Amino acid sequence: MKLNEILNIDIPIILAPMFLVSNADMVKAALDAGITAAIPALNYKTNSELRTAIQEIKQHSNKPFGINLIVNKSNIYLKNQLQACLDLEVDYIITALGSPRKIIDQCKKKNIKVFCDVLNSYQAKKVENLGADAVIALNNSAGGHLGIHNAKDFIPELLSEVKIPIISAGGVANYKQYKEVMNLGAAGCSVGSIFIASTEAPVSLEYKNAIVHYGAKDIVITKKISGSPCTVINTPFVQKIGTKETVFEKIMNRNKRLKKYLRFILATRGMNKLRNAAFKASYKSIWCAGTSIEEVNEIRPISKIVKQLTSDH
Ligand SMILES: Cc1cc2nc3c(=O)[nH]c(=O)nc-3n(C[C@H](O)[C@H](O)[C@H](O)COP(=O)(O)O)c2cc1C
Repeated sequence: MKLNEILNIDIPIILAPMFLVSNADMVKAALDAGITAAIPALNYKTNSELRTAIQEIKQHSNKPFGINLIVNKSNIYLKNQLQACLDLEVDYIITALGSPRKIIDQCKKKNIKVFCDVLNSYQAKKVENLGADAVIALNNSAGGHLGIHNAKDFIPELLSEVKIPIISAGGVANYKQYKEVMNLGAAGCSVGSIFIASTEAPVSLEYKNAIVHYGAKDIVITKKISGSPCTVINTPFVQKIGTKETVFEKIMNRNKRLKKYLRFILATRGMNKLRNAAFKASYKSIWCAGTSIEEVNEIRPISKIVKQLTSDH
């Protein structure tokens, strides 16, 4: 079953959840353009802001949209974020990092679908057994926390291992790439980086211009933001601070107990750096994006990005 049939939408594409980038305006524009969209709950500082955003989108459209939840222990707000999604009956949840067991159990009671980020077929089988409605297969071209396999190998492998639909995430920026992924048997695509340079995105003009002017060769992988590999633009500031862990970080990362604290410290520091760079002009530019920015040549409204992505001209 394709994503458009699962959600009753026109086009089987998710405007992917992006930390600091996704907001209600982007979701509304995506729904109007015939695709769906999801926002990370973490983009809202308070639960009441999250609830207001969900209600605002629902008032605008009755089309389906989702909320992205980090489901491991690092997310101390998970319980309240989930409660907001259950109370306000969002259409689906995208889970990232950690076991989605509790989320699936609670969402089933409310008929809310759960799509789970996976990096390999082991994780895919696990979430299928827990009752997930689809997997989001993160491949090695994805922006943000990327996967390990390329889409051409990963989608067929997952098709032979699980029965639930496979939504492919990573490396789709034009019609040809979109069709290639769908022809491999994907139920849909989750597309992020190219939407950063959209009129509706709330990030700084500097960040959007960076998406336009930098290309695939400028994307590097760093562990300095959250402790997990994450794609960023190789700005002079990123070159200055480097992408490799320091000796101290390496020692901390090897020790199980210390690793937990290091990840927390790194995540907090890394998120603050990202937050500052996303919204203000700063020489400390750390901008998260994937290699698909290669295809972005201008800042466009979401309606136009969707049109160009889904038509053959
Ligand atoms: C700036 C940025 C922030 C992201 N933040 C999140 C996030 O908060 N949660 C999540 O599950 N995925 C996040 N992702 C991953 C996207 O949801 C999606 O998997 C990815 O963008 C797909 O690859 P693409 O960028 O090549 O389209 C992020 C990606 C980017 C580029």
